[in-house]
Amino acid sequence: MVNNQEREKCASGIEGLDSILGGGFPVGSMVLVTGVPGVGKTSLSLEFAIRGAGAGDRTLYITTIERPEKLLASVPEFDFFRQDLLDEGMLTFMEVPELMDAVSMRGRPECREDVLRFSEALSRYIDDNGVRRLIIDSYSAMFHAFDDHGVSRDLLLMLSEMIYRKGCTAMLVADVEPSSTSDLAITATMESIIADGVIVLGNHQRRSDLLRTLQVLKMKGTSHSRSKYVIDLTSSGVLITPLLRGGA
Ligand SMILES: Nc1ncnc2c1ncn2[C@@H]1O[C@H](COP(=O)(O)OP(=O)(O)OP(=O)(O)O)[C@@H](O)[C@H]1O
Ligand SMILES: [Mg+2]
Repeated sequence: MVNNQEREKCASGIEGLDSILGGGFPVGSMVLVTGVPGVGKTSLSLEFAIRGAGAGDRTLYITTIERPEKLLASVPEFDFFRQDLLDEGMLTFMEVPELMDAVSMRGRPECREDVLRFSEALSRYIDDNGVRRLIIDSYSAMFHAFDDHGVSRDLLLMLSEMIYRKGCTAMLVADVEPSSTSDLAITATMESIIADGVIVLGNHQRRSDLLRTLQVLKMKGTSHSRSKYVIDLTSSGVLITPLLRGGA
């Protein structure tokens, strides 16, 4: 299990990201992947999921906005995807009500009790299925029914403890409003303080091109580059190169 002296690494399988992180995420980490719409949060999460399942980690991908069928229809585009990962249960896509076996629930929690039930159902599912990687895409969308930000933070604290205890590694997608003036808006939130790691995806205008960028703002338990990188979303996965190459 997780050893505090020298934390075992969970290689994301995304080559450029693992080299930024010196091998991967410390096992048991809860990492926020954040950014405005269209920057590649789902692409990065899908690659983390598919590569992980391919490497033998049972992976649960919880969707809260897109229907699992829609994501399933997009995964064969990746040349590292294998159908047997789904057939053999190494990779599972699921919505919140299915996880909770709650036919009456409409997509996402609507009260504090729902949030507690979600946490308990997730904990059970991880134990029963030996889940090693968890993705929630998106975490923020689970809380559309709440004005009280405390609920999302409480669940984040519960998840953080649960994930660490179980030796699972998680990527939670945190949306940033398109109107936000800065890619780094999330860093001012309590969510980013609670998380073990924060990866910010953003946009960068270079002459007539709008580039996508990636920056690891923090990753507890490992030293890493904090530079900004350019990312390319391709069928071979997320390609990562330094932003400054060729002039910014
Ligand atoms: N394999 C790929 N090859 C080329 N372009 C891609 C690929 N995957 C995604 N894209 C492009 O990137 C866009 C955004 O990707 P993605 O859905 O990962 O972003 P997102 O941050 O999750 O967006 P949202 O906030 O809307 O959920 C897609 O609309 C598509 O145009
Ligand atoms: Mg998305």
